Amino acid sequence: MEYSKFLKTWISDVSPYIPGKMSENFIKLASNENDYGPSKKVINAIKDKSGEVFRYPYKDESVKEKISKYCNSSTGKNLIGKENIILGNGSDELIELLIKTFRSPYIGFYPSFVEYKRVAKIFNEIYYEIPLNDYFCLDCGKFINNKKFEKAKVVFLCSPNNPTGGIIERKDIEKILNFDKIVVVDEAYYEFSNLTCVDLIDNYENLIVLRTMAKAFGIAGLRMGYGIANKEIIKFLHNVKPPFNVNYLAQEAALASLDDNDFMKQNVEKIIKGREILSKILSKKFKIFNSLTNFIFVDVSPYTAKEFFEALYKKKIIVRPFGKLDGFKGEYVRVTVGTEDENKILIEVIENTF
Ligand SMILES: Cc1ncc(COP(=O)(O)O)c(C=O)c1O
Repeated sequence: MEYSKFLKTWISDVSPYIPGKMSENFIKLASNENDYGPSKKVINAIKDKSGEVFRYPYKDESVKEKISKYCNSSTGKNLIGKENIILGNGSDELIELLIKTFRSPYIGFYPSFVEYKRVAKIFNEIYYEIPLNDYFCLDCGKFINNKKFEKAKVVFLCSPNNPTGGIIERKDIEKILNFDKIVVVDEAYYEFSNLTCVDLIDNYENLIVLRTMAKAFGIAGLRMGYGIANKEIIKFLHNVKPPFNVNYLAQEAALASLDDNDFMKQNVEKIIKGREILSKILSKKFKIFNSLTNFIFVDVSPYTAKEFFEALYKKKIIVRPFGKLDGFKGEYVRVTVGTEDENKILIEVIENTF
């Protein structure tokens, strides 16, 4: 069939999102998941509530209440209420809601999380990318002096940044917030950095913080993300939010997860320890970039990313090959930090292979 007369003209140029490869019985370190898994409280809640899934989900308000307490506990201030929060089917969905809600042009840096640009493309909107420096850090002066920045209405700042692992300095985030633009700070990896700008919500009506329960809380498969912002912004986002976007069991899992923050914190500590050990080993052989996340970005040259990936794949370990990046010299691979046992196996393979 000739579809072109039906298709929106730009859709054939959109690239689908390619998830990290998954093979049964492999160690998968390709998608920045948390291999320690969810709290037992989550598993029990899902089991207990599975018979109730004939109902539409209705616990948004309770989830928002608990999230607001969680956010306030991280800042030590009582700034965030339910009305400052929106729930998403993963923070991926919130990125889509933002692009549905706010006008383009959008701007972010490169490399960064691919969904900002991809979703903009789906809606045929303009997304500008400004390269990070050679060490994958943001030169804020250059960023804000770029002509494209002047035109942009929404700025996407991923901090810590996926795939590079580094952060944007708080003073730079504040500099950007002082422009007349909507500023989205994606804190998907917040718990691994312990750095947040949620406390700035009170000072900046143009700030939106995105978070996810996919990483530190270990419930990626349930799709649970949230946005925090001024209540006016949250209202606009609710205008476009699909009904029942967060499913019944994801709501129960979020509630149970947030009742077991100690479990999450213990796992985050283990992952940070693992990250430091892995970083040391990798840095003996390759150039690595300082990470405040649950992954490490590595320049594996003189090997190609494909060679590195395939060598590990043969040993039943899956990492995420990025290959070359426009404007940068290396061959890049992103390695998620696994459990202590997984990391041991990875280290042994790396030491014996490269
Ligand atoms: C920076 C960043 N933002 C958002 C997401 C999406 O998170 P979620 O699984 O909640 O959709 C990811 C997932 O990898 C991410 O790295």
